[in-house]
Amino acid sequence: MRIILLGAPGAGKGTQAQFLMNRYSIPQISTGDMLRAAIKAGTELGKKAKEVMDAGQLVSDDIMIGLVQERISQSDCENGFLLDGFPRTIPQADAMQEAGIDVDYVLEFDVADDVIVKRMAGRRVHPGSGRVYHIEHNPPKQDGKDDVTGEDLVIRDDDKEATVRKRLAIYHDQTKPLVSYYQNLAEQGVVKYHKVDGTRKVEQVSAELKSLLG
Ligand code: AP5
Repeated sequence: MRIILLGAPGAGKGTQAQFLMNRYSIPQISTGDMLRAAIKAGTELGKKAKEVMDAGQLVSDDIMIGLVQERISQSDCENGFLLDGFPRTIPQADAMQEAGIDVDYVLEFDVADDVIVKRMAGRRVHPGSGRVYHIEHNPPKQDGKDDVTGEDLVIRDDDKEATVRKRLAIYHDQTKPLVSYYQNLAEQGVVKYHKVDGTRKVEQVSAELKSLLG
């Protein structure tokens, strides 16, 4: 099972990725988490990425394509994977096609910008695992602590309202064109494309994905 999660920042891709990876036993490949890990480790990539991410911009296509191709070639991806945050531009999607990396499903999460801006203010994340919470809609069992490890949750550096608005503008400009890109591929029978209403409750969105994917 190879799945692409497509949608604006904060549309719920990472939240549903946790559900899907547990249900289908496939790894989540979150390019955002990979970049944040590189920043934390202080690698050359991390140093380059930090400034770009804090400004709400996109890291260059060449870097991202290389990162994802290397990750997909690892043995745990043999039976499938979940791409969360990639591809994010037409050149990234073209690179996947050219490399012959087929996908079964593209799942689009549809959420209006204003809902997203409100959501991001309440997001808390566990950096070690990528688990995502919301102080109101998806709270941890204990305030400020990860449910599994008990470690502290943090607020992402790029979740300030001004940065979120920039990320949304970039989404509409550079990533939204992938909707028609994959809809065209779906019409040719190359992928299955589903648009999901991401404004419903987390469990309702998971239930819809379950019925779509079986
Ligand atoms: P990345 O980490 O990929 O961020 P993103 O795509 O902007 O997505 P988010 O993680 O912000 O949101 P999400 O859809 O996963 O929502 P979540 O589930 O957390 O990328 C960060 C940066 O890295 C980019 O800006 C860029 O610089 C760089 N980058 C990454 N990939 C790149 C690429 N391919 N090319 C170039 N640059 C790249 O949910 C959000 C909140 O809402 C949470 O608090 C959650 O609990 C809550 N929530 C979720 N679902 C619901 C619901 N149904 N109802 C109510 N609340 C909900």
